[in-house]
Amino acid sequence: MNLTANWNYPTNIRVGAGRYTELADLCRLMGIKSPMIVTDPGLADMPMLGKVTSQVRVSGLNCGCFFDIQSNPTGDNVEQGVTFYHDNLHDGIVAIGGGSTLDAAKAIALMVGQQRPIWDFEDVGDNWTRVDVTGMAPVIALPTTAGTGSEVGRASVITDTDQRVKKIIFHPNMLPQQVILDPELTVDLPPALTAATGMDALSHNLEALCSPFYHPLAEGIAVEGIRLVQQYLPRAFHDGQDIEARTQMLVCSSMGATAFQKGLGGMHALAHPLGALYNAHHGTLNAILMPYVLKANISVIEQRLTRLSRYLDLGKLSAESFIQWILDLREELKIPNDLAAIGIDDADADKVAQMATEDPSAAGNPIAFNSEQYRQLFVDAVAGHL
Ligand SMILES: [Fe+2]
Repeated sequence: MNLTANWNYPTNIRVGAGRYTELADLCRLMGIKSPMIVTDPGLADMPMLGKVTSQVRVSGLNCGCFFDIQSNPTGDNVEQGVTFYHDNLHDGIVAIGGGSTLDAAKAIALMVGQQRPIWDFEDVGDNWTRVDVTGMAPVIALPTTAGTGSEVGRASVITDTDQRVKKIIFHPNMLPQQVILDPELTVDLPPALTAATGMDALSHNLEALCSPFYHPLAEGIAVEGIRLVQQYLPRAFHDGQDIEARTQMLVCSSMGATAFQKGLGGMHALAHPLGALYNAHHGTLNAILMPYVLKANISVIEQRLTRLSRYLDLGKLSAESFIQWILDLREELKIPNDLAAIGIDDADADKVAQMATEDPSAAGNPIAFNSEQYRQLFVDAVAGHL
């Protein structure tokens, strides 16, 4: 099958191997003469980034690289990027990296034109209407992992270090205007990160599907996104050079983030505080929490999971067989079964539970868990009591 295409939904997406070479043309198309490339330190020495920047420079554009993105980007991190943008007279942003980098880059693009502090734009009520849209920088996003789908999202997760909490910064115009999904940018991702990010994509599709709101468009996308994980995540994990699997997982990741406009749920409500408190990998957290959260919601989502078992063509058609599929997939991807295995204990269980109930993702959980229910869920996930 030819896996090259141009889409305009939910934004302009160019998908296909080698399409990162169209970056300079895209900058021109958008009127960007001096792009600021935002990327993470891990990519700074990668040949791929050198190829991208030299190609942009050869085409006559004046580009600068900002490498200082942390794995859980903070408000200070965004501020540093804003200063870099202004000091070097940039007029647009090219975000190349994993979810944290794309999130930070989108937040920088928002903040280069604002007078208020970033926390004034937290996704609460109608805070987003405070944004001065005229000052926002245009963004081109090139994901190098297949997980968060931040390239098609309208928000960024930024850590408030003072309060040790992850906040969602939202504005509809934070959706990048142009996206390149190029599997060649993901082939060097090691198996463990391929697994963790892929499971994040699965959690987005799954939580979106199970959230209680009315949104059949999102549900259609989510169901196929889950099937793509089934077919292609093990292949991408076992053979990183598998271009077809890498392409399909990038698309699956974008599908997950498109679908979760319908809402997320308990996996993310817990993964956000745990990421902020323990600096653990977001995808790994979701992967570990997944079966515990599904089981805790089973009374409400049993029919949906049974339907999924049919769509995935699992041997036995039931919610249990779907959960068993998740457990088998996790084992194949060498993801641990409990949070203790990644160094998390339950000493802070009350705090974690309270933060989970207050997390915006909690609103999309099929059952409105109270803090005692989140506490129990967390304690079970630490101990491996499924
Ligand atoms: Fe996520």
